[in-house]
Amino acid sequence: MNRNYLQTLVYAIPKAELHVHIEGTLEPGLIFRLAGCNNVKMKYTSIEELHSAYRFSNLQEFLDIYYQGAGVLLQEEDFYDLTMAYLKKCREENIVHTEIFFDPQTHTHRGVSLKTVVNGIQLALNQAQQKWQITSRLIPNFLRHLSEEDAIACFQQLLEFREYFAGFGLDSSEVGHPPAKFERLFKRIRKEGFRTVAHAGEEGPAQNVWDSIHLLGVSRIDHGVRSVDDPELLNELARLQIPLTVCPLSNLKLKVVNGLKDHPLKKLLDHKVLATVNSDDPAYFGGYLSQNLIEIAEALDLTKEEIIQLAKNSFTASFLDEADKQKWITELNKF
Ligand code: ADE
Ligand code: ZN
Repeated sequence: MNRNYLQTLVYAIPKAELHVHIEGTLEPGLIFRLAGCNNVKMKYTSIEELHSAYRFSNLQEFLDIYYQGAGVLLQEEDFYDLTMAYLKKCREENIVHTEIFFDPQTHTHRGVSLKTVVNGIQLALNQAQQKWQITSRLIPNFLRHLSEEDAIACFQQLLEFREYFAGFGLDSSEVGHPPAKFERLFKRIRKEGFRTVAHAGEEGPAQNVWDSIHLLGVSRIDHGVRSVDDPELLNELARLQIPLTVCPLSNLKLKVVNGLKDHPLKKLLDHKVLATVNSDDPAYFGGYLSQNLIEIAEALDLTKEEIIQLAKNSFTASFLDEADKQKWITELNKF
């Protein structure tokens, strides 16, 4: 496909994003502005110097910088500005629905209250719905490098804001912190009636995808690219239509794949797995959702039909109700 045509197509089609960490949309310019306003001391002296540190050999190297970046977020307005900047990108790119992760413990452990975080994010989400008809869901993620007890205590506090949340997830360092560590937490979350998702099979093995399904009862897997190592798992994901929220530029920047040409997305689609494309932490990985779609489509030589299929998958796999899913799939059939 010609590059101009590909770009026009990708920007034109309605899309849903299902895997984006709001803290991962924090651009260097906003980090410096907020550090100045909030008197937060930075390790880096300029935007260029900070940006040049965005070279990672693995997930942990990225997470260390990402948690530092999030340290400038203190006031409700900071969370509002952060979220609104991302929603403006959604508007530019025709992302009509977005399911946003945030890491509550990253903020409460610095003394920032849940109320500050949730109110700031939620105000921006409400305005984007009113002004631009962008629909959204909010999904708190627990940090797997912290204890299960800490996550359970945090979940208990989050229940005060329960009407804002569509589900709960699990992120941060996968290796050394398997799904089994959070079985009690997830049982508790599901008992309260929420859906669950979990990062799995990003740096960790395909077994973590099995365990997220069987031990945690998740309805969606974040990343899940290592599933291609296990043919039986691929069959199961396709049979149950358990979605994978795949993030190509993230996988490239965190060395999960050697190059985009080696990325398993095409193999997942060929196996009829319900794969979607997402941006993960776009401020750190060099591209928002459309850029992810364009670069992976070029690398894997995806067809127009496959790109439309990915967009349809993004709605099918979302937490929208059935009528809204159908509305967007009907729109996509017009392309
Ligand atoms: N938190 C933010 N981005 C993440 C990723 N790609 N994997 C695990 N935890 C994360
Ligand atoms: Zn992620």
